[in-house]
Amino acid sequence: MTAMQWFFSFLKKYRTTLIIALILLTFTSCLTIINPYISGIIVDDVIKGGHKELLLKLVLLLIITTLIRSVIRYIYLYMFETTSQRMLYTMRDYVYRRFLEEDFSFYNKNRTGDLMSRQTGDMEAIRHFVAFVIYAIYENSLLFVIALVMIFTVDYRLALCMIVVLPLTAITTYKQLRAIKPAFHNIRKHFSSLNTAVQENVSGNRVVKAFAKEDFEIEKFNKENDEYREAELGAAAIWRKYVPIFEFLANSLTFILYLVGGIMVVKGSITIGKLVTVSGYLWMLNNPLRMAGWLANDYQRFVTSVEKIYATVKEEPVIKTPRHAVDNKRFHGEIEFKHVNYRAEDDVILTDINFRILPGQTVGIIGATGSGKSTLMNLLCRFYDVTDGAITIDGINVKDMDLYCLRNNIGMAMQDVFLFSDTIEGNIAYGNPNCTFEEVKEAAKVANADDFIQNMPDGYDTIVGERGMGLSGGQKQRISLARALLKNPSIVILDDTTSAVDMETEAHIQNQLTSLTDRTVFIIAHRISSIKDADVILVVDDGKILEAGNHDSLIAKQGYYYTVFNHQYGEFDKYVRTKQKGGKYNG
Ligand SMILES: Nc1ncnc2c1ncn2[C@@H]1O[C@H](COP(=O)(O)OP(=O)(O)OP(=O)(O)O)[C@@H](O)[C@H]1O
Ligand SMILES: [Mg+2]
Repeated sequence: MTAMQWFFSFLKKYRTTLIIALILLTFTSCLTIINPYISGIIVDDVIKGGHKELLLKLVLLLIITTLIRSVIRYIYLYMFETTSQRMLYTMRDYVYRRFLEEDFSFYNKNRTGDLMSRQTGDMEAIRHFVAFVIYAIYENSLLFVIALVMIFTVDYRLALCMIVVLPLTAITTYKQLRAIKPAFHNIRKHFSSLNTAVQENVSGNRVVKAFAKEDFEIEKFNKENDEYREAELGAAAIWRKYVPIFEFLANSLTFILYLVGGIMVVKGSITIGKLVTVSGYLWMLNNPLRMAGWLANDYQRFVTSVEKIYATVKEEPVIKTPRHAVDNKRFHGEIEFKHVNYRAEDDVILTDINFRILPGQTVGIIGATGSGKSTLMNLLCRFYDVTDGAITIDGINVKDMDLYCLRNNIGMAMQDVFLFSDTIEGNIAYGNPNCTFEEVKEAAKVANADDFIQNMPDGYDTIVGERGMGLSGGQKQRISLARALLKNPSIVILDDTTSAVDMETEAHIQNQLTSLTDRTVFIIAHRISSIKDADVILVVDDGKILEAGNHDSLIAKQGYYYTVFNHQYGEFDKYVRTKQKGGKYNG
């Protein structure tokens, strides 16, 4: 499918309305020939011929046709405008759904600013095309043809002289279209970059302030702003070159008419009335020629926007629900990784991962930063697909499952917490909006968040900003944990979820979590204390599982885990022993 076919697939639904509107437009365009025609009769028959009794009738006819034209024009303009809004609504909805369906790789590739531009500026260019450009092109072409035909009926020699400008106009329009196309692509590119700069600076404003980089950011923004202005001016410069040509072609019609027509009147081959009639049609020829440059511009702007949007949404998401998907309402939570490898681009991220977890077990995952812990969980949720091997839940490959059902069974508190601009209650209930307030409170209690929420000015109704403004890191993590638990999932993933809470709060959360025996829980952490009571501990190093077992067996093994344990607990023991002796701890 090409970008244009994609666009027309949206317009197809409104075909009937558009055809009716175009028919009405044709009708009013045909009516426009009456006025110059009547003007000619008034000159020849009333003024020169002396038939004064005709004047009132003719003027009345002029008024009636003008009135009819105005009413019909109102109707078809309304039809074009509503069609454009309706079509755009559907298209915006489609594109938005598509954005939501897209997988992580799509968001790794596309900048937020680019995607925002697709939904705003590009959509507007399309709306303008449907609401205005379609009918303007049709109306102008029609008026031009009608006027020519009418002039032919008056005098074919005069018409032939005027037709000379047509090929010149066609060539100029074609040249402008070609010249302006890259300019519009350039504009859209810089508009996206400008959007991205604004979006990043607004979202990352606190980092900008913390590093006192306002001047640097202003300079960066000014550069984008300059480039965008240059891109717009570049397009304007191209277009400016063509405007005088179109203007000259339009005016040349006036010269031709009065020169050729004047000679003909003098020679007596046409009457003055005929010349008045033809000069009445002149605007119908002039106007389209003047408009040609504008319309070519708008058309190209529209084509560029359709191409941009289509290029963004045409790629099917790689990760999709298979055709005959297994749709288990609730998993038991038995999970197995079988010879799982994962490569991103050419980087080997995970190599030959094998483990099996029984329903209800708690799994601790520990390992150096960047070792691949989060990736393991991303593969389980199918945010990415394994390159080789298989991941099964209750014996079913995750690739064979209904994606919605798979993710609905998993409650995940992600490593980088994102809270929506909503109340705390709304944020916790995000995955389960029909739950009761008691359930929200219960989940918050398990996450040890209930106390601090109640102490907030509006309690559970406190609005937290886009990024959980006004909340501490540990508070945000606990809201995110409550959100994951409230879904009542059979698999819970906590990725670094208690890293920002103190040990005491963490111990409390863990106590609560152990009471949830009907779930398989994954806890990714850097602190041994977070995972040491887990049934299975996986030690990940450089994309491989280095050690696996429970705390005691891993300590007995005296490997990586043992070293980390000694590092963390050695310090702690030293601290406790020094304190017991009443001494001062120096780290
Ligand atoms: N989609 C991806 N494309 C390219 N590289 C990726 C992708 N996902 C992860 N990586 C890389 O894989 C490695 C493992 O990343 P991962 O996020 O799993 O680490 P981690 O163990 O969770 O680290 P941390 O403890 O810091 O959270 C990193 O080097 C990361 O840059
Ligand atoms: Mg991680």
